Order: sequence, then C-alpha cells, then structure tokens
Amino acid sequence: APRQRVFSGIQPTAGSFHLGNYLGALRNWIALQDTHDAFYCVVDLHSITIAKDPEELRSNTRYAAAQLLAMGIDPERSTLFVQSHVAEHTRLSWVLECLTGYGEAARMTQFKDKSARQAEEHVSVGLFTYPALMAADILLYRTDVVPVGEDQRQHLELSRTLAQRFNSRFGETFVVPDAHIPQDTARIFDLQDPDSKMSKSVPSGLIELMEEPKRMAKRVRSAVTDSGREIHYDPENKAGVSNLLVIHSAMTGRSIADLEAAYEGRGYGDLKKDLGQILGDFVTPFQERVRTYLDDPAELDKILRRGAEHAREVASETVRTVFDRVGF
Ligand code: ADP
Ligand code: NA
Repeated sequence: APRQRVFSGIQPTAGSFHLGNYLGALRNWIALQDTHDAFYCVVDLHSITIAKDPEELRSNTRYAAAQLLAMGIDPERSTLFVQSHVAEHTRLSWVLECLTGYGEAARMTQFKDKSARQAEEHVSVGLFTYPALMAADILLYRTDVVPVGEDQRQHLELSRTLAQRFNSRFGETFVVPDAHIPQDTARIFDLQDPDSKMSKSVPSGLIELMEEPKRMAKRVRSAVTDSGREIHYDPENKAGVSNLLVIHSAMTGRSIADLEAAYEGRGYGDLKKDLGQILGDFVTPFQERVRTYLDDPAELDKILRRGAEHAREVASETVRTVFDRVGF
C-alpha cells in the first residue's frame, strides 16, 4: 500500500526554534519520515498576517529551513519547501475563503485571542482568513494526516469542513485530512514560570536551540524549582522539577520512573547539571550543521528549489481540478 501523506508547516521565527518546538512538534516530523510521505513547509505567507520586516523575514525563512535540515528533515525522503515559492497556496486559498462563512472564521479562538491583544487598526484581514490559507496548505497535497497540537485543532477541523463542503458542492475532489495524534511529543513549560508553556513570546524562560551551550546550561541551572529536595514527578505541586524530568526523559528516552529512581537522594543541582550537559551534547553538532547550511547559500537554495518543484507538481494538479470544478 502507498504510504499515507502527512503535511505540516511551521512559521519562520526571529531567533531559533526552541526546545518546545522541537520536543512538541519537530522531532515528530523527523520520525514521520520513516512511515509517511511527508510534505514539510516553512509557512512564510502566514508570517505576514502580523507585520514583518522584509529582510528579517527572508533571513528567518532560510534560518528555519537550515534548522529543519540540521535536525534531520531529509530532502531525499521528504518534500521540504517554502510556502511562498509555490503560488498554488494563495490560488487555492482564495477559493476556500469564498467557501468559509464569516461567522465560521469569526469563531476561531486563535483569531479571537490574537486580535484581542492588538489595536483594531493592526488586526489584518489576513489574520482573519489565516485558517483558509492553512486549509489550502493541507488540501493542496491530498494530505491524509496532519500532526496537530491542541492550538491547531480547531483550524484542522475547519480544513476538514471546507474539504467536505467543496466535495459536496462541486464533486469529490479533496481528501478529508485526519488529525494525527503525535505519540512521541511532550509539552514543555517555561523555565522561569513552569505553569506556562515555553513560548517564543516569553524569552526569559526559553531554551533556544541555537543558544551557546554554556549559556544554555546556565539557564537550566537557574530554572525555577520549589523549596523541597525530592526529585519527584508531580506537575501539580512541583511544576519546575517535573518539567526538567520531562525534558530529560524526552531527550534521553529514559522513563520518568527510571529517572526518579536514579536521582533518589540527590539534589536539584545534580538534575540541572546533567540536563545542561545532555542539551549541550545535543545542540553542539546541531548548531554546526545549521552553520554549514547557512554558509552555503547556493546549496540551501538548491534544496529548497527542488522541494518547491516537487510540491508544485502535486499542488498544480489539485488547483487545475479545483479551478475547473469551480468554473474558471
Ligand atoms: P510559540 O508558542 O513559541 O509561538 P508556535 O506556536 O510557533 O510556538 O509553535 C510551533 C509548534 O511548536 C507547534 O506545533 C506547537 O504546538 C509546538 N510548541 C510550541 N511551544 C511548545 C511547547 N512549549 N511544548 C510543546 N510544543 C510546543
Ligand atoms: Na504560539
């Protein structure tokens, strides 16, 4: 049987990806390459829903691609590309926007949250129609499964609705994608405020993958823990220590129970020191590979061009069918 197709996208960000992005999403992208026909996209079109500096956007997009390659996304096995390189995303997006109800889009909680945090004149129409573009990203590739975190669940549901709506109005065209519940992912919390998830919007509690390993170890050493002494997994009462255990376990593959036993009678300092070492050992070769890609722009361009060419082959066929059915 042919492999199921998986699609996933990530926005380019200022600065590097963080440990939450890696353990919560990107590591799973790498694993899915073994079992799925994977399409992975740096979604720069989505980035400008909030104003961006052009040169920064351009360099962040390349930086994101370099990090994905350095992490283990293999362009020989997967299709890795940049969203703006494949014009079909915007072409299909328009059709899907016209199938989306105003009220349906207005109910998206991410839009409600993001728009509530800004003055009305800074809220773009693009931020509002973002879920239709995301639906286009997915549906263009006849995607079977989409790995989604909690935060994208509602958007994926809308993608499914739009696929079904198009199919019933214009005839069977789109594959209706399923949510893929990632097995091997972890939710990572902020080092300084372990009740909140680690997020690039709160730089103080981040572990950025491109940070110098010594400084990274220092950040881990100064992570907020509680006043107790026991290294014990208890997210309710010992959120900081529990977060460190989760990170340790995710990075080493050792179970939490095994770690609790190994740290019996030892202090938080030991756990933090070991974790700093583990993270340093992981990021050192990763960072070298990122620099290798960034130092060879022609090679990076070639990889992304090949990815876009392959993506376009699939996407253009979808758009041709869709435009024909719509009456263009
Ligand atoms: P941020 O929260 O830093 O803005 P994004 O929203 O861009 O990160 O998330 C990109 C991907 O990384 C998503 O799949 C998201 O679920 C995942 N992710 C982000 N932060 C975390 C975290 N703290 N723990 C686990 N996964 C995360
Ligand atoms: Na976010």
